[in-house]
Amino acid sequence: MKLNIALVPGDGIGPEVMAQNVLVLNKIGEKFGHTFEYKEVDAGGIAIDKHGEPLPQNTIDVCKASDSVFLAAVGGWKWDTLPGNMRPERALLGLRGELGLYANLRPATLHEALKDACPLKPELVKDGVDIMVVRELTGGMYFGEKGRKQTDMGEAAYDVEQYSVEEVKRITKTAFEIARKRKKHVTNVDKQNVLESSRLWRSVVLEVAKDYPDVELDHLYVDNASMQLIMRPSTFDVIVTGNIFGDILSDEASQMTGSIGMLPSASLGSGSLGMYEPVHGSAPDIAGKDIANPIATILSGAMMLKYSFGLADEAKAIEDAVAKVLNDGYRTGDIMSEGMKKVGCKEMGKLIIDRI
Ligand code: IPM
Ligand code: MN
Repeated sequence: MKLNIALVPGDGIGPEVMAQNVLVLNKIGEKFGHTFEYKEVDAGGIAIDKHGEPLPQNTIDVCKASDSVFLAAVGGWKWDTLPGNMRPERALLGLRGELGLYANLRPATLHEALKDACPLKPELVKDGVDIMVVRELTGGMYFGEKGRKQTDMGEAAYDVEQYSVEEVKRITKTAFEIARKRKKHVTNVDKQNVLESSRLWRSVVLEVAKDYPDVELDHLYVDNASMQLIMRPSTFDVIVTGNIFGDILSDEASQMTGSIGMLPSASLGSGSLGMYEPVHGSAPDIAGKDIANPIATILSGAMMLKYSFGLADEAKAIEDAVAKVLNDGYRTGDIMSEGMKKVGCKEMGKLIIDRI
C-alpha cells in the first residue's frame, strides 16, 4: 500500500516521540512492502509562534487530504496565559471537530512485564487489565455553547453540556461493535441521576443495545465508575461515555498500565480517515532531554495501521515488538522499576525497531 500521512509533531516532547514513531513505521513499510509518505504540518504552540494561530487553515487542508493524521502533543507553559480560542489545545479540538472524529478509542492494557509499575495492589490486577475507553469526542461541554455573563453573584462563565440523539447513537454503536470483537461487555458511564443530557444519553444507549443482544450492558454513574475502576479494573471491557467523563476516566485508566506514557489512542469518524495520538500531553518539563517514553506514540501507530488501513498483521508486529522490549527488561524513566535497564527515548525506539 502507498499511504499519505499528515504528521503533526506539535510541542514539548511531541517531535521526539514522533521521530521514533516515523522510524518504526518506516521499518514496517520496509518489512511488509508499504510506502508511507509524510507531510509535516504545524499545530499548537509552534503554530502560534510561526503563524500567529494554533490551527492554520493549511494544516486543516493537509490533514483532510491525507489518508490519516498523526499528532504527537500540543501545549506548554509558554502559551498558558493566552485566551481560550488562541491556546494550543484549540488545535486539537479544532482538528477533532473539522475532521468529524467523534469516536475516541483509548485502550488501557496492563502488560504482564509492567505489573510492578502499576500503582494498584497486585491482588487488584492479578487477572490483568484490558479496558477500552470509547470516549465521545466532538460533543458535550467541549463543543457546547460557552460564554460569560453577569449574574447577581457577579461575573459567571458557562460551558453547555449538550448531546443529541444522533450523537449518542453513533458513539454507542461504535462501542458495541468494538465490544463484539472483545469480551462482549459494555459499561455505559453517565450521570443520569442529575443531568438531563445524561438521561437522554442513557435512553439512547438502551435503545441501541436492543440491536446487540449478544453484548452484556451495564451502567455506572461517573463518580461510582471512577471508584470501581480502582477496585475491580479487571472486570471492565468496553466503557462508553461522553467527552468530559471520558477525558477524566481515560487518564485514570491509564494509570493501570503503569504510566500515561503507555497509552495510545485513535480518533475515528464515519470514513477511514482517523487521527492517532498518544493520550499523554507535551510534558514540557522533560522536553528535549531524550527521556520521554515513545511507546504510547508507537502503539498509536499500530492503531493507525489496524483501524485506518486494515493492516492487522503489521499492527501486531509493532505490539509484539513493544511487548518483547518490555519482557527483555528495558524501561524508560516513567515505567522504571528495580532491576530493569533504563533507556532514553531514542534507545527505546531503536530497541523496538530491532524486534520488528
Ligand atoms: C486529551 C487532552 C485534551 C482533551 C486537551 C489537551 C484538550 O486532555 O486528549 O485527553 O481534553 O481532550
Ligand atoms: Mn485528557
